[in-house]
Amino acid sequence: MRPRNAAIMSYAMTAATPIGVFDSGVGGLSILSGIHQLLPAENLLYVADSAHAPYGPKGDAFILERCESIMRFFLQQQVKAVVVACNTATAAAVARLREQYSLPIIGVEPAVKPAAALSRSAVVGVLATSGTIASDKFLTLQSRFNDKVEIRTRACPGLVELIEAGGNDEAALVALLQEFIRPLLDTGADTLVLGCTHYSLIRGLIQQVAGETISIVDAEIAVARELQRRLAALGLQQQSAIVGQVRFYSSGDPAAQRNLLARYWGRAVEVTAFPD
Ligand code: DGL
Repeated sequence: MRPRNAAIMSYAMTAATPIGVFDSGVGGLSILSGIHQLLPAENLLYVADSAHAPYGPKGDAFILERCESIMRFFLQQQVKAVVVACNTATAAAVARLREQYSLPIIGVEPAVKPAAALSRSAVVGVLATSGTIASDKFLTLQSRFNDKVEIRTRACPGLVELIEAGGNDEAALVALLQEFIRPLLDTGADTLVLGCTHYSLIRGLIQQVAGETISIVDAEIAVARELQRRLAALGLQQQSAIVGQVRFYSSGDPAAQRNLLARYWGRAVEVTAFPD
C-alpha cells in the first residue's frame, strides 16, 4: 500500500489553497510561467533552491534530500499539489516523493515524444544536465522512441551556472551553445529538446545559435496541462476571475535573488528566505 504522510492528511485542500512549484534555481520559472498563463487564478508558491544549484552534477541522494526539505515546507504551507519544475530532480526523486506524499506531484521530463513526432530527419537532439541524461528514467524514455527516431544527447556543463548568474554574458553563452549544439546538428538533428528548465529561459538565444530551420521543443505547456487535468479530476481547480498570487522563496540571498528572479519573471518580485 502507498505510504501516507500524516502531515498531508491534517489539512483540507480546497481550490483556493496554493500550488507549490520548485527548481534548483530560476529554471522552473519557465514552467511557472506556463502554469500562470494556463491557470491564472491559481495561487502559486515558487521555491528556487539557489543555494544548492546546480543539481545536475549532484547525486540522487543529495537531490532527494533537497526535494524532501522543500516538500516539508510546501506541506507547512498546505499546498494542494506540487510541480517539480526540474528535469534533474524529477529523474532523481519524483518516484520516491510520490511514495511518501499523497498529494498530486507533477514532474517534468524531456519532451522527446513531441520532438519525435515533429522531426523530419528522424534525428532528435536532447540538451539536458548530466544527471538527467544518465538517469534510468531518461534511459527508459529514450528506449520507447529508439525504433522511431535516433536520439542524440548532450550534457551542457556550465550553462545553468551562466543562467543563474543572470545570463548577461551573452558571448560566453553563445560560445557554450555552439559547442553543445553543433555536434547535434552535425548528426542530422532537425529538432532540439530543451531537457532542462533553465534552457527555456534562453530559448531565443538557442534558436539563434541553432538556426531558424531547427525546431525547438520544451515541456512547459505539457506540464501546465497535466497539472490542470489532475486538479480538475480532484475538483480542486481554482475557478475565480481574480488573478492568483505568486509568491517567491529562495535558499540564496534574498536581495540578490530579487533581481535575478525579477529579471527572468519579467516584473518586480518580493523574495522571502526559504526556511531550510
Ligand atoms: N533546471 C533543472 C533541470 O530542469 C536543473 C538544472 C541544474 O540545477 O543543474 O534539469
